[in-house]
Amino acid sequence: MPALVLVGAQWGDEGKGKATDQLGGLVDYVVKFNGGNNAGHTVVVGGETYALHLLPSGILSPGCIPVIGNGVVVDLSVLFEEIDGLEARGTDTSRLVVSADAHVIAPYNRTLDRVAERFLGSRRIGTTGRGIGPTYADKMNRVGIRVQDLFDEKILRQKVEGALALKNGLLVKVYNRKAVGVDEVVEELLSYVDRLAPMVADTGLLLSQALDRGETVLLEGGQATLLDVDHGTYPFVTSSSATAGGACTGSGIPPNRVDRVIAVIKAYTTRVGEGPFPTELLDDDGERLRENGGEYGTTTGRPRRCGWYDAPIARYAARVNGVTDFVLTKLDVLTGWERIPVCVAYEVEGRRVEEMPMTQTDFHHAVPVYEHLDGWTEDISTARTLEDLPKNAQAYVQALEQLSGAPFSSIGVGPDREQTLQLRPLL
Ligand code: IMP
Repeated sequence: MPALVLVGAQWGDEGKGKATDQLGGLVDYVVKFNGGNNAGHTVVVGGETYALHLLPSGILSPGCIPVIGNGVVVDLSVLFEEIDGLEARGTDTSRLVVSADAHVIAPYNRTLDRVAERFLGSRRIGTTGRGIGPTYADKMNRVGIRVQDLFDEKILRQKVEGALALKNGLLVKVYNRKAVGVDEVVEELLSYVDRLAPMVADTGLLLSQALDRGETVLLEGGQATLLDVDHGTYPFVTSSSATAGGACTGSGIPPNRVDRVIAVIKAYTTRVGEGPFPTELLDDDGERLRENGGEYGTTTGRPRRCGWYDAPIARYAARVNGVTDFVLTKLDVLTGWERIPVCVAYEVEGRRVEEMPMTQTDFHHAVPVYEHLDGWTEDISTARTLEDLPKNAQAYVQALEQLSGAPFSSIGVGPDREQTLQLRPLL
């Protein structure tokens, strides 16, 4: 099997880290193709919890080469902080490869992310404040700094000067901040060069050659379908392509080499930041989902907004990504509810709609149409096959699968690697 894509189906935090980690043991390369240290993967291995923000989860699988692809934006201070943290816990990080074409999050972009959010006031996006948006904006504006630029001091200085000519105008005249000096930025970026140099490669070429040799490549999406800059709930999205299409542009692998698209979907829904969320619960049920599911941001610690499973979103994710397999996660969090509502369609201005509405205005006004399924009270965290689940949990999973537009291949009943019902192999 050549290349597999793994994406989030909802608004992120579906538990991709665990899925990637499980697949990581079976693949030769795990590639992060978008986003930066705005992502938060929590991976539990043998009772040890690892919170990764920037590094691909494949870093925890000894046989696998983790790759930071060209589509990623890299905060070098975070990169080395995470490497040092893992090394201190005995994890070997020496296999990591970083694309020469990946963009670097310059320090002024972290500042700009935060001040822009404050400036937007009630129209803020609720970003993670890590400089992700401004760095992607620089990339499109063609004033970005790439990893390869760090190896040519003259070029680096020119590029930083060019970028700061624009940024300082903004910082000083619009946001009322101090100007940033070229020297301090260049100096900071150059301080990473010696450690970075051995990791840098032409990752598109490296991955193509691996595929030619019949090796397996897993392309891991940060964020998720509804946070995709094109296909998500714009403008309340991240700034990169988090859907399956982004896996190709963000890694240099052509579409015809991808033959499986796995989407991770939670048995309920969460989102962080602002923006529409039809099944959001602002009551005790929402609070209970948050507490049972530990729904607090890995990167920011923010409490996540929680709501019931939304099948139109699942069908949308299936369509946009060409999902071949869903990985359902956190089913155990729903244990204890007598009845579990599932959103099967929306009502928009008195009309029932089965699909994601075309306009954001309609999505804002979409009222969920719920079907209520019977819940279960038994502890399901030790279940390892579908038959181990109580009848009502089996029926819940089957109903979700029928509504969601692609088969469920795996079901998570707890955070540990082993707490998984594998219905069909992903590889
Ligand atoms: P940014 O990616 O920091 O620009 O934030 C843009 C939006 O994406 C905000 O609503 C964030 O909360 C959201 N976001 C970014 N990364 C993640 C993630 O890994 N999980 C969930 N939401 C995210």
